[in-house]
Amino acid sequence: MQAGIVDEDIFGDQVISDPHTYYGLLRETDPVHWDATHRTWLLTRYEDVDWVARRPDLFSSQRALLDPGPLDPPIRPEDLDASRFVTEFRSHEFIQKDPPEHDRMRAALKSSFTPKSLETWREKVRSAVAGLLDAVADDKAMDIRKAIGAPLPMLVISDLLGIPEKDRALIKRQADDRMASALSSEPDRMPRAVEGILASNDYLDRQIDERLANPTDDILSMLAMAERSGVYTRLQVLANAESIIDAGHETTIQLICNGMLALMRHRAQWDLLVSDPQRWAVGATEECLRFDPPLPIFRRVAIQDIELKGKTIHAGERVTPCIASANRDPRVFERPDDFDITRPKNRHLSFIVGTHFCLGQYLARMEGQEVFSAIARRFPSLRLDDQDLRYDPIVGIHSLNALPVVWE
Ligand code: HEM
Repeated sequence: MQAGIVDEDIFGDQVISDPHTYYGLLRETDPVHWDATHRTWLLTRYEDVDWVARRPDLFSSQRALLDPGPLDPPIRPEDLDASRFVTEFRSHEFIQKDPPEHDRMRAALKSSFTPKSLETWREKVRSAVAGLLDAVADDKAMDIRKAIGAPLPMLVISDLLGIPEKDRALIKRQADDRMASALSSEPDRMPRAVEGILASNDYLDRQIDERLANPTDDILSMLAMAERSGVYTRLQVLANAESIIDAGHETTIQLICNGMLALMRHRAQWDLLVSDPQRWAVGATEECLRFDPPLPIFRRVAIQDIELKGKTIHAGERVTPCIASANRDPRVFERPDDFDITRPKNRHLSFIVGTHFCLGQYLARMEGQEVFSAIARRFPSLRLDDQDLRYDPIVGIHSLNALPVVWE
């Protein structure tokens, strides 16, 4: 272990804005590292990150129930009840369940997220992207997050769920409040999250009643039918509808923002995309996902004592596999720190693997491909307007709060 490495704070500004330097040092010197400050094991090699994702029998996703605590970052002592409410509610999401219950709940939604069924949405996504770019075309400047990153995923996910257009602003406000529990590091974030959950529950409860009476082919109808057949309870329907909105929202914003930032910082790669957007859109999206993954980590709790590379992970301890580090592991990727949209066989772990692999990955990929190719086609001279970029102080998501660009 090199001096100083253990002193890095994963919640510090330095690691949040550049996770690669610290995680890269750990990967080479201490790949199974106990972070005593945050009381978690940081795993930084591809083979270990991949292995943990494939072993739900050893590493549980039931963090709401099993995480040893305390909450990280900390909250106000007077908000403990609010925190318990949020944790209990979230424990009904299938992302927080282990097999076999996880698999049964996930299967009820699988057919809406196959590549074939999502491909029918491509035209819709394309025209939504065109509309958002039309709105800023004459300005010759935009904040990518505000103009396209934030509105697009919410628009698409609302359509998939079957949320009426008039209610979209409401849904977005509720999601922002609800996600404060995960996306904010403020000690007073929990009461806001409770408000968001209660407001969403109230709204979605009525929507589900309507779908039970008049089912359609949207995702809320699929959840309603899963309730009718006894696979989901009403509480599980609500928690999972909200989980799908949340899971598909900030992550895709960051695919768009982090991806556009990487493309802007690697001009030759941007010029290649501009030369033939249709041809390079898929490679560009995969490389953006690898190079700067929206979720740099995922989290598990060890179910039993586990020996790994000479260390003992004890039952009940937190385990944090680092996707951002696995994606730059030189044992798997040639020239891992180069951004290269022509990279063949890009086996990044940004959607993980195993039973919890991202249900919305085809949708997210489609949104990335459509955004990157449309911007390259419409604004080939695009460049960064401000180098002073800020990330939200959160470890779990690499979240740029603005990305200003200009073009001629
Ligand atoms: C670039 C965008 C996205 C990234 C990087 C991403 C990444 C991930 C990751 C890493 C997981 C595993 C989490 C864990 O097990 O701890 C996951 C799960 C999940 N994602 Fe995504 N996601 C993205 C977009 C989406 C979208 C658009 C949707 C839905 C419309 C979605 C829905 C889900 C769901 C439902 C799960 C839970 C799967 C399960 O537990 O079986 N995601 N995602």
